[in-house]
Amino acid sequence: MSSKPHTHAQWSSRLAFTLAAVGSSVGLGNIWKFPYMTGESGGGAFVLVYLVCILLIGLPILMSEWLLGRLGQKNPISTMSNISARLKRSPAWVLIGVAGVLGAYLILSFYSVIGGWALAFIADAATGSFESLTADTAGSLFGGLLSNPATLLAWHSAFMLMVILVVAGGVAGGLERAAKILMPLLAVMLIMLVGYAATTDGFGEAAAWLLTPDFSKLDKDGVLAAMGHAFFTLSLGMGIMMAYGSYLSDDVNIGRTALIVVVLDTVIALLAGLAIFPVVFSNGLDAAAGPGLIFQTLPLAFGQMPGGEVFGVMFFVLLVFAAWTSGISLLEPIVEWLEEKTPMSRVASAWVAGIATWLLGIATILSFNVWSDVSPLGMFGKFEGMTVFDLLDYATSKLMLPLTGLATIVFVGWFMGRDEVRSQLNMSDSAFSLWSFVARYIAPIGVVVVFASSL
Ligand code: PFF
Ligand code: NA
Repeated sequence: MSSKPHTHAQWSSRLAFTLAAVGSSVGLGNIWKFPYMTGESGGGAFVLVYLVCILLIGLPILMSEWLLGRLGQKNPISTMSNISARLKRSPAWVLIGVAGVLGAYLILSFYSVIGGWALAFIADAATGSFESLTADTAGSLFGGLLSNPATLLAWHSAFMLMVILVVAGGVAGGLERAAKILMPLLAVMLIMLVGYAATTDGFGEAAAWLLTPDFSKLDKDGVLAAMGHAFFTLSLGMGIMMAYGSYLSDDVNIGRTALIVVVLDTVIALLAGLAIFPVVFSNGLDAAAGPGLIFQTLPLAFGQMPGGEVFGVMFFVLLVFAAWTSGISLLEPIVEWLEEKTPMSRVASAWVAGIATWLLGIATILSFNVWSDVSPLGMFGKFEGMTVFDLLDYATSKLMLPLTGLATIVFVGWFMGRDEVRSQLNMSDSAFSLWSFVARYIAPIGVVVVFASSL
């Protein structure tokens, strides 16, 4: 089918590729992070800005990462250095790949801690802890978990171990096949939760609050948060999608496949919002409760609905599964990089990278208890009151991912030949003109303007 030499095996089918990409993108970002950020940023206006960023910035950058990966046929660092050398561009473009490995390390360190929360809630659901919860006791169930560093460490370790074992064994393919069943199941569970939420008296208010933009509630930092989250949720700016692109065969239509991934990711996030906020409003909870939001509201919903014990277990199992596939995609680039740069085997690299990530995760654990008042950059007004976890989140979602993504789309839009990009994307004339315009102007200017306004 393809005429150019490939250095490694290609995805056996378009489905396998799509599953891997969806596995990476759908995760805690959709179900944990999107709702709590929406709650902190006042609802509809945040959602609208997020949707615009997904469409005009996220989608073209996802396509750019895939086309670079397919052209480069290597890991992101080698891909960027090969392509920029061939096009006689500055070798500095490889920084895109380097920043990706660092970003993946920082993100996975806290992602694993939150994955641990989800594991802990499987156990809580299974032992009937959600029964007869009230708004107050739901708060203390979660508060109790947060205040206990040893318990958090145990669950963080368990999650990290799950990730390491899959990456060390190189068996992510099996998980991707499972994703074919489990991801749709997660969507079904979310739809059921939305159905339940529709029966509560807060539903109308919550739906209006989510879907009617009130820009007086959105400040500059909220706009930056919405843009940063567009990168986070689609796994962009870390070279992960670029690495996946290297497995993409030439007959796969990048635009269509990217649209599928973006729509699925967005739908899951919106469903999560529609499931959670009615419970928040019906029970008089605080929408701006922060990272604990879903862990305080969903148990309440499961406790009240018929069959909630079974659904609760199922839901948190599926959430862990979604987080697991994303976690694997985060460890993978670090392991590949170690494998290439050091004499270590894949297994050794997986353990070394995993343990290093696990260690940094401890800082996030402590951010929720012992170090909750420690604000390492507090002397700079902007960072006042931010814990280590807050800073890791800020540095990745609000700085590194958008900057790396910006560099990626500027490279594709301005430093590559139009014909080469065009043949990769395989679009009609008019579609390609539109794409070029968005990739060259709208997306980069959008990122720069959001950055500049938040400074
Ligand atoms: N996109 C994942 C989510 O929404 O949960 C998180 C993530 C995975 C971010 C992989 C970045 C990444 F490279
Ligand atoms: Na996501």
